[in-house]
Amino acid sequence: TRKVIIDTDPGIDDAAAIAVMLSEPSLDVKLIASVSGNVGIEHTTNNALKLLAFLKKDVPVAKGAAAPLLRDNRFATNAHGKSGMGGFDFPEPKNELLLEENAVLSEYRTLMDCKEKVSILTLGPLTNIALLILTFPEVKGKIEEIIMMGGSTERGNIGIYGEFNVTIDPEAAKIVFRSGIPITMVGLDIGRKARLTVGDLEELEKGGETGMMISSLFRSYDGGHIEEGVKMYDPSAAMYLMEPELFETKKAFVDVETASPITMGATVVDFDETLNGTKNVSVCVDVDVERFRRRYVQRVAEAERK
Ligand code: BDR
Ligand code: CA
Repeated sequence: TRKVIIDTDPGIDDAAAIAVMLSEPSLDVKLIASVSGNVGIEHTTNNALKLLAFLKKDVPVAKGAAAPLLRDNRFATNAHGKSGMGGFDFPEPKNELLLEENAVLSEYRTLMDCKEKVSILTLGPLTNIALLILTFPEVKGKIEEIIMMGGSTERGNIGIYGEFNVTIDPEAAKIVFRSGIPITMVGLDIGRKARLTVGDLEELEKGGETGMMISSLFRSYDGGHIEEGVKMYDPSAAMYLMEPELFETKKAFVDVETASPITMGATVVDFDETLNGTKNVSVCVDVDVERFRRRYVQRVAEAERK
């Protein structure tokens, strides 16, 4: 089995990603670390614990950074609701899963304690991971790869070119991109393409309680504007981890703009080798949408029986 740490800011689509990962038999999710992003750290941590209570899974949770490295918090309550997982009535959080150690220490300990290398899936701003790399550079050799939902090869969602997770903490993202750790970037453009239809949500609902939960979250996502489908940002990164054959990738030099006020947070993805940088990222450039949708819906139905 493959060992994984999930670093996340739940978050409606974070929940939809985590739910399918926790029922994948080939994955051993060692830790869920929260980070401030869609909503504040108290909410994202609490949401992780509520989701685990609902899914009846015992994964340790560590509380992470309460704000970006240099910048102020900017929340996405318009898309995720005030508490971050609006649209479904979750059971009480499973507080006994919360570790005393913070996310950076817990990630460090998890990485060092595992004999094999561990993959990290990031579904939120990269604050914890940047702090982890700066504090404990020795972890670099223990990380198999970082699979990141973040950035864009096209346009953004919080700036013209800035994607939320990268733009909220662009300095942290820059530290991660420059770390030398193998990175796969599953950007905004992939999640925009890989959409679930309203018919898929109906299928999810037939699948059982987990499907009902995910569908009900998605029906309130983005203020309920789902006529054109549900954009699967974080679930795309989770699906990449589990079924990379659904995606096409291309190696490229990627860096983050941190200076210009008008393009701050933009991921510069240099496919044409214009900047002559080292190809530090495997960038997702395409997804087989039909298969993606089918497999995601199947996975949720299977989650019910695990
Ligand atoms: C990302 O931003 C968040 O709102 C989502 O959860 C996703 O991780 C998309 O830009
Ligand atoms: Ca997220």
